[in-house]
Amino acid sequence: MNADTLIKTAQAMVEPGKGVLAADESTGTIKKRFDSINVESVEETRRAYRDMLFTTPGMEDFVSSVILFEETLYQKSSDGTPFSKLLADKGVIPGIKVDKGAKPLAGAEGETVTEGLDGLRERLIEYRKAGARFAKWRAVITIGDGIPTDYCIQANAHALARYAALCQEQDIVPIVEPEVLMDADNSIEVCEDVTSRTLQAVFAELDQQGVLLEGMLLKPNMVISGKQCPTQADVQTVAEATVRTLKRYVPSAVPGIVFLSGGQSDELATAHLDAMNKIGDLPWALSFSYGRALQAPALAAWGGKNENVAAGQRAFFHRAKCNSAAAKGEYTSAMEQAA
Ligand code: 13P
Repeated sequence: MNADTLIKTAQAMVEPGKGVLAADESTGTIKKRFDSINVESVEETRRAYRDMLFTTPGMEDFVSSVILFEETLYQKSSDGTPFSKLLADKGVIPGIKVDKGAKPLAGAEGETVTEGLDGLRERLIEYRKAGARFAKWRAVITIGDGIPTDYCIQANAHALARYAALCQEQDIVPIVEPEVLMDADNSIEVCEDVTSRTLQAVFAELDQQGVLLEGMLLKPNMVISGKQCPTQADVQTVAEATVRTLKRYVPSAVPGIVFLSGGQSDELATAHLDAMNKIGDLPWALSFSYGRALQAPALAAWGGKNENVAAGQRAFFHRAKCNSAAAKGEYTSAMEQAA
């Protein structure tokens, strides 16, 4: 393990005003996204869509790094340049999603544990050769009647730490993603409680397994009302609850926290990030690692058509620029109108 490499990479990923593009949708998830625009999901359409995003002129001013799905890591841009090289040549760091998805947790109805540890060391060696400098592993915590159980939180925290230690052994920066889902009818207070339990368990395991906190990033959910909750906490309340919770459970040695968007609308995800950074006096960089909230308008503008590539790129550029401003606490809703 080269601590210096890990620390430099992690810091570069959260340079001021920059964040991460999560373009690592699995084959199943990208099919759902393509279904929404009536585009068939085959290897070539997936390649063309990612090519559009990655060749967006100027996106490197706002996007420090991109999470790829394994298939994409080995695909090429239309001119034959491997995506990992195309990104690296622009100064954008390529990374890869390495988990094998959330599977039912034995003896725990309605709960999952993320799989993919077997053979991970060997896969990481190959991914690094192919250009990956960081990785992502997503654990899923579901809120419901009597869940999450401590058993589920513990099992996922343990796997996240094992993954993170293996990554660092190969000089790959781990993005540690414990996602508390935002889909239920719970209040923001319940989300705060579950997020607190989760982060506490995750950092205890990371410590236990000797993970270098300075050489990793955390990718959490925001502390937010469940989507089905009749009363939705406002932007300022979400920002304050999220910062309060992170300050309690995330050591200041962690260089950056990059949020997932979790199905929030694109503008709301930007407003939340901005409000947190406007609070100021934070021990870590707070930025984005959005999938849907960075891509939704670009996906719609593209619609699978070659002639719409420029329109898709404009839509992606705009969201990246707004989120870059939010990562500095400099976003205003006027930025949306200007577009
Ligand atoms: P969303 O921002 O769409 O939640 O995706 C981020 C991600 O990478 C989830 O693992």
